[in-house]
Amino acid sequence: MKKAYVPYSHFPVGAALRLSNGAVVTGANIENASYGLTNCAERTAIFRAQMLHDVQGDTNIIEIAVVADSDGAISPCGACRQVMAEFCDADVPVVLTDLKGDELHTTVGDLLPYAFDSHQMDDKDEPDATK
Ligand code: THU
Repeated sequence: MKKAYVPYSHFPVGAALRLSNGAVVTGANIENASYGLTNCAERTAIFRAQMLHDVQGDTNIIEIAVVADSDGAISPCGACRQVMAEFCDADVPVVLTDLKGDELHTTVGDLLPYAFDSHQMDDKDEPDATK
């Protein structure tokens, strides 16, 4: 949360990922004057983990924690749930918290049931220009 860049919302969020190699990779939200370009804490952490540890290779994300000064455990946005689903197995535990100590324990799969994933594009031929 201390590294968040939040001049617009003033709402810092922190995320931490535990990796199978023992590393912990953190992230924070990074906002933009063009609001829609904001990168949430969860995606910052996941993208850092991919760059630093190739978490789609031999190393995996095995646990996620997210914290903010929210009214109840922070809830990840839909975009971050989709990115979690891309980079984590569905059974990866997620701990959502606030600064008061509220905790919600869930999983990547429970946060985004019926996620769209690459398997739904399996067995596709080259694009058919007639369609
Ligand atoms: N935000 C996160 O970084 N993660 C969440 O789980 C919820 C929302 C950020 C995005 C934006 O910078 C600020 O919180 C307010 O929406």
